Amino acid sequence: MNITINSARLTNELTALAGFSAAPAPAVTRIVFSDQDLQARAWFKDLCTQAGLEPREDAVGNTFARWVGTDPTLPAVGTGSHIDAIPHSGRFDGTVGVLGGLEAIRALQEAGVRPRRSIELLLFTSEEPTRFGIGCLGSRLLSGSLPPAAGETLRDKDGNSLNTVRTQAGFSGALESVRLPPDYYSAFLELHIEQGPLLEERNMPLGVVTAIAAPASVRVIIEGQGGHAGAVLMPNRHDAFLAAAEIALALEAAAKSSGAIDSVATTGVCDVFPGAVSSIPSRVRLEADIRDVNAERRDGMVRSLEKACRAVAARRGVTVQTETLNQDAPAICDPALVTILTKACADFPFDRMVSRAYHDSLFMSRLFPVAMLFIPCHKGYSHRPDEYASPEAIARGVLVLAKALEKAAAA
Ligand code: GLV
Ligand code: MN
Ligand code: MN
Repeated sequence: MNITINSARLTNELTALAGFSAAPAPAVTRIVFSDQDLQARAWFKDLCTQAGLEPREDAVGNTFARWVGTDPTLPAVGTGSHIDAIPHSGRFDGTVGVLGGLEAIRALQEAGVRPRRSIELLLFTSEEPTRFGIGCLGSRLLSGSLPPAAGETLRDKDGNSLNTVRTQAGFSGALESVRLPPDYYSAFLELHIEQGPLLEERNMPLGVVTAIAAPASVRVIIEGQGGHAGAVLMPNRHDAFLAAAEIALALEAAAKSSGAIDSVATTGVCDVFPGAVSSIPSRVRLEADIRDVNAERRDGMVRSLEKACRAVAARRGVTVQTETLNQDAPAICDPALVTILTKACADFPFDRMVSRAYHDSLFMSRLFPVAMLFIPCHKGYSHRPDEYASPEAIARGVLVLAKALEKAAAA
């Protein structure tokens, strides 16, 4: 079967999608359920319709576009990723898996393929944690990994619940209904940029992912004592920010001393209250992201963080509360699907590798066999405006994805 990827069409679509942004180009900011996200979704659904795939949306906005196979009663083969983008990021994270998935389906259609199983493109809602504090919101709900009560407990920074925000965005219905039955997909394949430098450094065009590292995130609230920056003398202070700084440094030390290069920890949120130069910080909210391919080592870092919080609280006379937002298990990719991907790589060299970033496939793997395909991105840059994957690298990834989808749909 001669499958041809229309790289120009896909490049134009990636460029058009990047235009739905709250930040000026080249940066992309597309927060879930923002105007830009909703406009991008409408545009995307239009593309699906043009390709003959009638889109359907669930109660949290996960969007499914199905190419019906010759035996529609069989579990389908799924592919897809996300289009939400963290503030001031780039245009390829997630989008390559969504628009690349669409292009793979169109290429198969144009090649005259008649899949036995249906092939379904899936746009996941809010892979990024920006708005509601945890990532992979859509796929957590699809896989039953998040209690439906999250509709009320998850809030954005303005205090609006997920239920309020999704309803305003046009997605109503019970969150319970989002969960997929375990025989919904026979396989799920996600194409993504690597978001790390290894493929490019090794001049390797493709990466077949064998496992996805385990992410955790912890919120830390520190309450100290505010006061006048001139009048309160140093021995009398209980500065919440300085306590927070020590906690962040202790977490860094825990990651660096874990004994494994795979341990990473980042304190990416630090909100200081009241945030005035002449006022001693009375309250700080930290959010830390902690990951490792080994869940026990990752849990060890979480425990070190909690221990540091107790020690700093006692030493500095502040109160520190921690709340684990998520602490997920790693995922192992399905060996049979990994083999399908490696065979689909055909003449292209590839590496087997671990995904250090998380992806919706992490949660899809709780119900379905999953595998992922990586393409190189320039210097591994991601979550920044200069994120870049070449049209050739993307087209290669889409071609391999298309071949793997065809194979999985014939099984
Ligand atoms: C996903 O976006 C991640 O941060 O790994
Ligand atoms: Mn991302
Ligand atoms: Mn992503």
